[in-house]
Amino acid sequence: MNNIKYYLERVAEIFAEEQFVFEPKELYEPIDYTLRLGGKRIRPTLLLAANALFGGKEEEVRDAALGIETFHNFTLLHDDLMDRSPLRRGQPTVYTKWGDNTAILSGDTMFALAWRYFLRKPSPRLQEILQCFNETAIEVCEGQQKDMNFERLPIESVSIDDYMDMIRQKTAVLLAGALKIGALYADAPEKEVKRLYDFGIHLGLAFQLQDDLLDGYGDTAVFGKKTGQDIRDLKKNYLILRALQLATPDQRLALAKLYNDTSVDEDNRVTKVMAIYEVLCLKPEIDKAITKEFDLAAEALEGIQVPEDLKTPLRELMESLNGRKK
Ligand code: IPE
Ligand code: IPE
Ligand code: MG
Ligand code: MG
Ligand code: MG
Repeated sequence: MNNIKYYLERVAEIFAEEQFVFEPKELYEPIDYTLRLGGKRIRPTLLLAANALFGGKEEEVRDAALGIETFHNFTLLHDDLMDRSPLRRGQPTVYTKWGDNTAILSGDTMFALAWRYFLRKPSPRLQEILQCFNETAIEVCEGQQKDMNFERLPIESVSIDDYMDMIRQKTAVLLAGALKIGALYADAPEKEVKRLYDFGIHLGLAFQLQDDLLDGYGDTAVFGKKTGQDIRDLKKNYLILRALQLATPDQRLALAKLYNDTSVDEDNRVTKVMAIYEVLCLKPEIDKAITKEFDLAAEALEGIQVPEDLKTPLRELMESLNGRKK
């Protein structure tokens, strides 16, 4: 039986074998740059492991693995432009290196390339697979729009429930969709596909909560992204929303002022907001929320009706994400 290291290595090989530079090079070089920088490759790894869970053949999901990761990387090109993030995977983001127009067009191309990868390999359930892929893409965009809408709303008017709904769409559905697609290629039964999807949702919620945590408390050298960016962008992430619930009336006023006054120096806002987080002992609070989602993910995985030892790779991946620093 394989372990998660096996699937991570397979994904690395699949990407190493693929060519991404074509003409005109101005369009493709940013794509190659992004896809070669790697990242954690979680989504294609989930896809391969889910396929194997139901006895699928690896050769049949190779292209889908390329497709799902290319789609993910497309979202990053556009997300970094939208969030004005300077750094990703420890390197300058595409729009800072090549300009906004390149991030838009190379990103669009990656979305279309993802479709090309999916269409390259026939499958009896391709219709369902493509439908899942497309509905997932639409939900990611809906989540991204909500994330942007929240930037403009006063902190008091976004609830933690609103936030959880937003991150389910912008992040969790893609992890869940990757798992579902892997399972569909293996012709898994409907009931088990549903359970696997549920596992992916909770894993994805934990994953985005961790991303929020690392945005506040991460080490840029390890995380690969500039910390404090959510505060600069006035994002309504878990940290600020939970802080608001725990704050004294004075602290609440101070936070609201920092978020409502867009003329305040951004670095100054980061320092002051983080100082309030310290006083509120916020880190254990977000850790609790993360643990809750990991526990629900573990429970969902437990419920899938396949021999326990076959679940080892997915369990290992979940455990490797718990406590992640990047
Ligand atoms: C970043 O995703 C976007 C989020 C959903 C937080 P990852 O953290 O998976 O990014 P890479 O691909 O490993 O760089
Ligand atoms: C990620 O949200 C969601 C998507 C890319 C669709 P973030 O904006 O928090 O991701 P990072 O922190 O820039 O990777
Ligand atoms: Mg971002
Ligand atoms: Mg974003
Ligand atoms: Mg983030």
